[in-house]
Parts: sequence; structure tokens; C-alpha cells
Amino acid sequence: MTALAERTVGIFGAGKSGVAIARRALDAGYGVAVATSGPAWRTDLVTRVLTPGVRAVDAAELASVAPIVVLAVPLRRLRELPLSTLAGRIVVDIMNYWEPTDGVLPDFASRAHASSLIVRAALPASARLVKTFNHIGYHEMEQLARPSGTVGRVALGVAGDDLDAVATIARFVDDLGFDPVSTGTLADSHCLQPGSPLFGADMEPAAFREALSQLASREVPA
Ligand SMILES: NC(=O)c1ccc[n+]([C@@H]2O[C@H](COP(=O)([O-])OP(=O)(O)OC[C@H]3O[C@@H](n4cnc5c(N)ncnc54)[C@H](OP(=O)(O)O)[C@@H]3O)[C@@H](O)[C@H]2O)c1
Repeated sequence: MTALAERTVGIFGAGKSGVAIARRALDAGYGVAVATSGPAWRTDLVTRVLTPGVRAVDAAELASVAPIVVLAVPLRRLRELPLSTLAGRIVVDIMNYWEPTDGVLPDFASRAHASSLIVRAALPASARLVKTFNHIGYHEMEQLARPSGTVGRVALGVAGDDLDAVATIARFVDDLGFDPVSTGTLADSHCLQPGSPLFGADMEPAAFREALSQLASREVPA
């Protein structure tokens, strides 16, 4: 693995959300590599303009240059990714099931399971999946980012089953300008999905935690 720097993040997707996260990560001092479904040279034409400083790579190479890999593609494209290369990586699921763009994907449409559980099932067993950044708009990822300690800083929920991976991604969220708030396991990550009051809410941490606890008490009847 070529100088797999601790502070390198790989991003599948150079669209609205991929670019916003790439810019925030660059600002925070991370090395950033990006892959699309096209060859690196074609991705480079996009990233050179939108995210100067980002390294464009082929999708098959992305996980070999970054210990953290962000999935920023439409959910319907998930299974096109070279998922086997994600073994041993911390994988960040920022994706939402969105029927107007994804169409009907039966696994996700039933909503029997949180979407991240379905994503995790598609990954190698050793990949450590964390969900975050999915419940904020791409423009807000840049506009609302603030340094740590800023009064009124916006909270982002972080969900995952591997506590070390959750801690690493909580630091990543903090570095990118938001207050990380643990929301529990992937099975419980419905709370971050479209339709939840936390989705698109831009709350400070105290309000976010309060909304989260109200949701929990609503979901577990006395
Ligand atoms: N937009 C938002 O405000 C926002 C906020 C939070 C989360 N999200 C979630 O983030 C995901 C992406 O949304 P978006 O709005 O950023 O989408 P988008 O603007 O349409 O960009 C999607 C990107 O994914 C790439 N892609 C598609 N298939 C790929 C593949 N097989 N391998 C590698 N790259 C591939 C596309 O490039 P090519 O087609 O050229 O390969 C494109 O760069 C969605 O699940 C969405 O719900 C979006």
C-alpha cells in the first residue's frame, strides 16, 4: 500500500456531496483521493476544476490509498463499486435511499432495515461501516462548517457498530467542522434517514440529543 497516510480519505463519487466532503477534508488538512465510475484521467478533468489538490484515481485503486473511504454515490449504483477492495477499511455511508433518483430498490423500499444495514451486508465482513453526513445537504456541508468550540456549531449524527471506527469518524466529522453526536448502532440508524425529524434539521448538539431521545422514547412504547 502506497504511503497509506492516516489522514487520507478516499471518496467514491465526485458529485454534489463528494465534492463538498472533498473540499472540507482538504481544508482540514486531509489528503483526498476521489474515484468515479470512469477512468482516473476523466475524473481528474472534474476534480482539477472543482477540488484542486484532490488526487483522482481509478475506482479499483481507491481503497489502496486511503484507510477511510466515503461512499458518496447514489444507492442504486452501490453494487457497481469494487466492494471487495473495502476489506479492512473504515467505510463511511453518507447515502440515502431516494426513490425519485434511485427508483424502487426492493431491499431499501421495504424499510424493514435501516439502509446502512443493507449497505453493510454488501461489504466484506472486515469493512467497518459508519453512517454520517447523510442528513445534511451538500451546500450546508460547506456553509455550516465551523471550527471546534464555536457556539451554535451544527451537530451530525454518527452511527456504527465498531466503536473504534465510530471514534475515528467522529474525529473526522469534528475536523470537517461539525459536532459529532453518537446515535447508536447501524440497526438504529433509521433516526438519520429521510423522514426522521433529524434529517435536514441543522441542530446544535443539545437540540439534536433532545430530538434523538424523544425519537427513542417514541419508538419504545412504555
Ligand atoms: N446531494 C446532497 O445534498 C446529499 C447530501 C447528503 C447525502 N447525499 C447522498 O450522497 C449520495 C450521492 O448524492 P449526490 O447528490 O452527491 O449525487 P450526484 O451529484 O449525482 O453524484 C454522484 C457521483 O457518484 C459517481 N458514481 C456513480 N456511480 C459510480 C460508480 N459505480 N463508481 C464510482 N462513482 C460513481 C458519479 O460519477 P459518474 O456517474 O461519472 O461515475 C457522481 O460523481 C446519495 O446517496 C445521496 O443520497 C446527498
